[in-house]
Amino acid sequence: MIPKETIEEIRSRCNVVEVVGSYLPQLQRRGSTFKCNCPFHQEKTPSFTVNETRQIFHCFGCGAGGDVFGFVMEYEKVDFVTAVKILAERAGVEIVYEGGSPEKSGNKDVLYKLHTEAAAFYHRLLVKGAEGTEARRYLEERDLPPDVVKDFQLGFAPNEWDGLMKRALKKGYTAEQLEAAGLAVPSERNGRKSHYDRFRNRIMFPICDPMGRVIGFSGRIMNAAEKGAKYVNSPETLLFRKNQVLFAFDKARKPIVEARRAIVVEGQIDAIRCHQAGLSNVVASQGTALTENHARLIKRYADEVVLVLDADAAGVKAALASSEIFIAAELSVRVVTLPEKEDPDSLIKKSGAGALAELVKNAPPALEFLIDCLGQKEDMASEAGRMRVIKAVLGLINKCPAASRRDAMLHRAADLLNISPQALGQDLRREQRNRRPAPRRAEETVPAPSARKTYPRQETGLLELLVHHYPEVQPLVHDYLPVCYLTDPVCRELVELLMIDLPESLIENFRDFDEETQKVISRIQVEESRSIDQETPARDLAAMYIVLFWKRRVDLELAELNRRTDLTNEERYVERSRLVQIKKILENEGWNDAKLAIEAHLHADG
Ligand code: CTP
Ligand code: MN
Repeated sequence: MIPKETIEEIRSRCNVVEVVGSYLPQLQRRGSTFKCNCPFHQEKTPSFTVNETRQIFHCFGCGAGGDVFGFVMEYEKVDFVTAVKILAERAGVEIVYEGGSPEKSGNKDVLYKLHTEAAAFYHRLLVKGAEGTEARRYLEERDLPPDVVKDFQLGFAPNEWDGLMKRALKKGYTAEQLEAAGLAVPSERNGRKSHYDRFRNRIMFPICDPMGRVIGFSGRIMNAAEKGAKYVNSPETLLFRKNQVLFAFDKARKPIVEARRAIVVEGQIDAIRCHQAGLSNVVASQGTALTENHARLIKRYADEVVLVLDADAAGVKAALASSEIFIAAELSVRVVTLPEKEDPDSLIKKSGAGALAELVKNAPPALEFLIDCLGQKEDMASEAGRMRVIKAVLGLINKCPAASRRDAMLHRAADLLNISPQALGQDLRREQRNRRPAPRRAEETVPAPSARKTYPRQETGLLELLVHHYPEVQPLVHDYLPVCYLTDPVCRELVELLMIDLPESLIENFRDFDEETQKVISRIQVEESRSIDQETPARDLAAMYIVLFWKRRVDLELAELNRRTDLTNEERYVERSRLVQIKKILENEGWNDAKLAIEAHLHADG
């Protein structure tokens, strides 16, 4: 048996786009997904699709689909375990078989416990340890008072090679577990393997997952003169994935939901300072590039992101790259430019939280920020300069999935660049044509192989909406659609799951589903096949589906009414009137009335 954690570890290190791309060099980005001709059946136009965000592939032609392991299984014609071994090799992950050396390392529960205890150990030393004197003085100098130290459980790693390790070993942990947690570093001397503490003589910032569990650390040097990096961070571990973690997200989540807005700063101390000053919808990227994973995390709770990055050239570049990622995730983005040589921490200390709040309030949208930056860099009077600016602007606009928002951005850009919106619109469309093939209904142009099972389009349609627009659509389905109204068992099971769990869980537990269900999951997750209707908001489409399923159900009940022997004639009459009335409303009235009728009906039933 290969432990589940190891499989997850391998999965997380094998990007499906890279793996598929190494087998199929023709794989190319087309809009938000990657496409090429399918290796599993003959075709002339690519319907084989890979979705990087969701780490899944699906062929709209032959129905093949799955995760990265599934691809290797299918391509190499091997079983699951062999596919895992092939990918482990590729990713450089050592497989420790279950039963061989039980919970030696890599057991998530042990790693959580180890982190909790390490954080408590570092914190204790900082608060009252004799070793912590210098650290306490440092924090005092930096204006980080005891209540902040307590809130964020800041700590101090002693100036020893085995300060933490000594205590952990005494408690029964192994050096391998400390290594797997990223807290100890392995070394080899005279052919003998040994370990030493990763964090030494540093102020420790525990990094938590969204649930508030400690999963990693960042350690800051106290004395600039000392050698070594200013910050040392936990490496990637089973718990800690840099491209998914945002510092202080656990504390900021509620304020983010309330404001529907997240403010992203760079440093831990910046985030801490903001929270201390009462700006609590703030998280820190910790100096790493923001990724689609970060965007997805934020998108669950907010509609808007405000980026607060350094005013230097690197900061501007980072701001633009992050803007693209957030815009592609359908978040609004605004960018704060700080006064030169300031970061949020220094600005708040100097001018108060109000000064930062004001900058946040007046921050321009990413598009204006981009035009402004480029305008300073490029010579707008020259033809070439203008072309470069226009190209960059169109690039940003094209990242935006919603047509209505693209249109608004286009008009704004035309205005700022002093170009007619018609001309800019033409350029935008030309740019789009160059990038992706004309939209088409894949199922209609590609002949379906005979053995393929089909699913009711409306039911998979609703599933797609649920998966790609979860926050708007889930509550609606949850409140207004009894799952038993769906006819296909696979669709029903998936909708049911999505009522209690996030779409991500379908992928996380992908291997636990049967093959049919896996195919449906890869199909709905890989991309939205909403070629018919790009403009209607997801919520409205979902409402349409709900009404449709209700109509179908009501028709069924009406048809059955005559066959029912458990009713008197009078009861039958009453029931029929009720059904006919709701049918009329569903057919003729808008969602608001349909909603009321559904509520009344649900109430009467239950
Ligand atoms: N960082 C890092 N490794 C480094 C330098 C920086 O991981 N060697 C990350 C840290 O998360 C840091 C962030 O990048 O908080 C921003 O770096 P910087 O602006 O240099 O640090 P500040 O947050 O301003 O920290 P301080 O105020 O203590 O100087
Ligand atoms: Mn700073």
